[in-house]
Amino acid sequence: MQVGIIGLGVVGLSFASVLGSKGISVIGMDSDFQKIEKIISKKSLFFEPKLESFLKKALSKSLEISSDIEKIVKNCDLIFLTVGTPKSKSGFIDLSMIKNASKNIGVSLRHSTKKPIIVVKSTVVPGTTTNVIKPLIERASRKKAGKGFEIIANPEFLREGNVIDDTLKPHLVVIGGSNKNSVNRLKKFYSKLYGSKIKFMTTNTQTAEMIKYANNSFLATKISFINHISSLCQSISGTNIDEVAEGIGVDPRIGRLFLNAGPGYGGSCLPKDLETIIQFSSKIGVNPVLLKAVQQTNDLQIKQIVQLIEKKLISVKNKRITILGLSFKENSDDIRESRSIELIKILLRKNSKIIVHDPKATKNVERIFMNKITYANSLSEALLNSQCVVIMTPWRVYTKLNNNDFQKMKKKLVIDTRRILSRKNLNVEYLAIGLGLN
Ligand code: UDX
Repeated sequence: MQVGIIGLGVVGLSFASVLGSKGISVIGMDSDFQKIEKIISKKSLFFEPKLESFLKKALSKSLEISSDIEKIVKNCDLIFLTVGTPKSKSGFIDLSMIKNASKNIGVSLRHSTKKPIIVVKSTVVPGTTTNVIKPLIERASRKKAGKGFEIIANPEFLREGNVIDDTLKPHLVVIGGSNKNSVNRLKKFYSKLYGSKIKFMTTNTQTAEMIKYANNSFLATKISFINHISSLCQSISGTNIDEVAEGIGVDPRIGRLFLNAGPGYGGSCLPKDLETIIQFSSKIGVNPVLLKAVQQTNDLQIKQIVQLIEKKLISVKNKRITILGLSFKENSDDIRESRSIELIKILLRKNSKIIVHDPKATKNVERIFMNKITYANSLSEALLNSQCVVIMTPWRVYTKLNNNDFQKMKKKLVIDTRRILSRKNLNVEYLAIGLGLN
């Protein structure tokens, strides 16, 4: 089958790189020429482990990059829609890119003899594939779904920092569609790609779309739950949140994953998807009390970190504060909805002097704060004369910090929001999210 991928963001580019690296004939398309140029020159658009080497391999084998949607529609049997569905000003998802792509697919389909299967991988609220995307393609192509094309919802669950491994080995493939033949063709494609052990879940389009939101909402709920418990631990002398997580995580009904207390969840998915499902829920008349509490708990985490700093420094005004880690998670340079950005904004409002360090994300942060903060080129520069250091992102390099590194701080105050250091080994004042003081 000739495969087409429309939209070369995190999901589209990873998928195209994996398919191409395996020799599957694939055309990747994006309307952004700058993006296309960079990809053709074998450069990934963002930092992501393994992606660039897979991209290189794919381009040397069977991945073709194009800006021409017509080429995809006229040549491909399987067309994956992986365009972004970012947050709009109201907080709800912005469907303009996916609507635009759907119309363009329809226009190209009008005079085509192919009957492609269009697979919606982008995250969209339940009902969108059937009630928005399908009619747009039908109107523009003047062809009916089932006759001129098929449509399937197939949400994606990959994690940033892990995109290649997750694309190579997903925990589940969810396929939502009403036409048995096209569902089976897509299953066959994935079985060939992933082997016979791959788990499938087949359902209708709206349930498939709902699974994606339920998945991300549940992950956010787990994080806010453990963050809430961690706040309790912080107020109970001697308690340790990681041991609590370990203890409850052994219960198979709970599980240990996503129970790491920290500064709250960030990124391009969890905050956006939670806000969207909250608004969607209200729109259809279901009061989203639980999910709102999850969101509020997440917002509280950053305020708590500020309180910890203020408790020790009394006032943060004119104090030199070091922030270690700017990306929303380790192994990524993505700063979308990063809690570090929120923390910097609050501290700047309180007139602190901020110096930041990150192995990969500094350039992205410079675009936001320009000369309002200082960007350190090394850890020693970041810590020099600092009155407080806050570890925000658990990059590996920060796990190796020791007494020597903190030597040149003006006040040796370490706030570890991810508990990656051990209090026992440190000759500093050490505070952490989720650890009760003695
Ligand atoms: C998420 C989903 O995991 C993925 O399935 C979906 O396809 C996209 O959204 P991602 O945004 O890449 O993936 O990051 P994830 O690993 O889920 O982490 C999200 C945020 O939660 C990060 O800020 C992370 O640091 C935080 N987190 C995660 C915690 O604070 N504690 C945890 O235990 C786990």
